Amino acid sequence: MSRPPVRVAVLISGTGSNMRALVEGGGDAYAVALVLSNRAEAPGLAWASERGIPTIAIPHAPYGKDRQAHEAAIDEALRDHDIQVVALAGYMRVLTPWLVGRWSGRMLNIHPSLLPKYPGLDTHRRALEAGDAEAGCTVHLVSEGVDEGPILNQARVPVMADDTPETLAARVLEAEHRLYPQALAAFCAGL
Ligand code: GAR
Repeated sequence: MSRPPVRVAVLISGTGSNMRALVEGGGDAYAVALVLSNRAEAPGLAWASERGIPTIAIPHAPYGKDRQAHEAAIDEALRDHDIQVVALAGYMRVLTPWLVGRWSGRMLNIHPSLLPKYPGLDTHRRALEAGDAEAGCTVHLVSEGVDEGPILNQARVPVMADDTPETLAARVLEAEHRLYPQALAAFCAGL
């Protein structure tokens, strides 16, 4: 007997183009059951809401320096929505070990580089400055170290001679939109 799709929450901070790809790529393996953002004005929230997907904004500013209190509110929302797997998609806050521990083995992230190369920010500029012939993106499990968890899947794209960080970012982003739904579906199918 087939089981219902795994209930996934997608955490975003901005545009949410990867979140849109995840929503559209849902199927037998997973369904996006919540979109959560630390920024109330994140354009992705309105997009998801228009499609009938529950959305929640939990701004971090009111919590000041108490990162764990902010994360406790996120964790409560995830559990209220019976979430089984969390997919970070352009969620631009570093998580504390507390939340990472709560979702250990059940939280994925997409990063715009071929990890372990270029963790952190500015990945495309760094790849160009290094003269790399190829770039890409990585889906990995989230661990305490930033962009360090076990790698699940990667996609590669060529670097062109006339690339700027912006043109390379656009090519990598297209690859992200193909990779993340596949990687998430394979991960959820294997749970
Ligand atoms: C994506 O390129 C994602 O890989 C990156 O932010 C962008 C979000 O775009 N994430 C990180 O850099 C995390 N370290 P989106 O909001 O359109 O999906």
